[in-house]
Amino acid sequence: MSLIAASILAADFARLAEAVAESQAAGVDRFHLDVMDGRFVPNLTFGPVVVEAIRKVSDRPLDVHAMVVEPERLAPDLVQAGASLLAFHLEATPHPHRLLEAIRSLGAKAGIAINPGTPVEALTDLLELTDQVLLMSVNPGFAGQRFIPRTYRKLERLAALRRTEGASFEIAVDGGVKPENTGRLAALGADVLVAASGLYNEKPVAENLAAYREALRDPGGALP
Ligand code: DX5
Ligand code: ZN
Repeated sequence: MSLIAASILAADFARLAEAVAESQAAGVDRFHLDVMDGRFVPNLTFGPVVVEAIRKVSDRPLDVHAMVVEPERLAPDLVQAGASLLAFHLEATPHPHRLLEAIRSLGAKAGIAINPGTPVEALTDLLELTDQVLLMSVNPGFAGQRFIPRTYRKLERLAALRRTEGASFEIAVDGGVKPENTGRLAALGADVLVAASGLYNEKPVAENLAAYREALRDPGGALP
């Protein structure tokens, strides 16, 4: 069954530790931490200091999603701060191959993210160095955006590429993931589903998470 990674971007930043505790008690599999620099994406969020603070209050893996220019500059600090996996954007560096190797040698898992406009085939020669491909199903920058349906076709092609390359990276889908589309995403090969606004809203995290798990158990029942 696909794992659920909780993106705290839609949580209350004045009560992050409470959000983390509530999410863990509810049973989220991982946290997904969206680092944004105001340059690669229009929004600005947080960096290594907050990653480190969350590391201290969390017992789950931390997948850090770096939406920053020149990710090689921030990578060592993000790993040092406690990232279990660090994913950077293919579009943000001319040397993704070198950076994937560097992240692994720093002791973290290495992930690579692509924007909706970047074809999955651009990753072909990087796949053996990659622990996770993070497929963006919205343009990165904000929580609460609408899922881009073309992602289904990209996911299919990425899963096929994984087979033909004999690679073993996990596939994560990020942006607009809701109980309604989880079943189809899981069936097409998504191992990790990232959710922010679907988990952090007016309802308790446990109730929201249960809706995702239920949709994954019974995808037919949740199809729109
Ligand atoms: C968007 C971030 C996502 C975001 C997802 O740039 O990378 O992780 O938090 O938010 P939802 O689940 O609300 O689309
Ligand atoms: Zn993200």
